[in-house]
Amino acid sequence: WEVETWDRSLREWYQRHGRALPWRKTTDPYAIWVSEIMLQQTQVKTVIPYYYRWLERFPDIPTLANSPLQLVLKQWEGLGYYARARNLHRAAQKVVEDYQGVFPDRFSDVLSLPGIGRTTAGGILSAAFNQPISILDGNVKRVLARLVGLKTPPKKAINQLWELSDRLLDRDHPREYNQALMDLGATICTPKQPSCLLCPWRDFCYAFQSNLQTQIPMREPS
Ligand code: ADE
Repeated sequence: WEVETWDRSLREWYQRHGRALPWRKTTDPYAIWVSEIMLQQTQVKTVIPYYYRWLERFPDIPTLANSPLQLVLKQWEGLGYYARARNLHRAAQKVVEDYQGVFPDRFSDVLSLPGIGRTTAGGILSAAFNQPISILDGNVKRVLARLVGLKTPPKKAINQLWELSDRLLDRDHPREYNQALMDLGATICTPKQPSCLLCPWRDFCYAFQSNLQTQIPMREPS
C-alpha cells in the first residue's frame, strides 16, 4: 500500500478540480460547524443560500445562543429535519455555558455537543484547525468501498472502513484531504455512473480495475 501516492494524487486533483464552496473560505469553527450540520441531510446547492443567511442573522455563537428558538427554527424553514436546528441552538448554549462562547478544539468536547457525531466532529476540526481526524460519511464509505473492493455492504464493515479512513488520511494536509475526499465522492465517485476516467485514484481502485464500480458498494440485503 502506497498511501503517500494516493494522498498526493488526490491532493493534486483537488487543487485543480475542487469546488470553491463558501465554508472553505473561512477557518471560523462556528461557520464551519453550521455548514456541516446543514450538509448532513441537505445538498450543497440548497445549503449555500441558507448558510449565508444564517451567518447574517446569527453571526456568532453567543448571538445564536441568545436568540429565541422560534427565530432559529424560522431561519431553518425549508431545510427540513428540524432536530438539527434545535441541536444547533442547544449546542450554542452549551458552548456559551461550558466554553465561554468559544467553540472547543478538543475532539471529545466537540463530540459531546448535541447533533455532532464522529464524522461531523472530524469535519469541523480538520477544516477549522487542520487537525488530523478522519471522516466517514455516506460519500466516503462509497469511495473507500470501491477503492479496496469491499465485498460486504458498508454497514457490515463499519469498523474496517473507519480503520481504512484513518490509515489513508493525509496527516500533513488533513484540511485539504478531507475536503478533497468529500469532493471526490460528490463529483466523481458518484453512486450511479461514476466518472472513473477522471478519477485521481483510478490506477489504484479495485472496483475500476475490475470493472465492478456499479456493483460496489454492495447493497444491504432487503
Ligand atoms: N458534505 C459534508 N461536509 C461537506 C463539505 N465540507 N464540503 C462539501 N460537502 C460536504
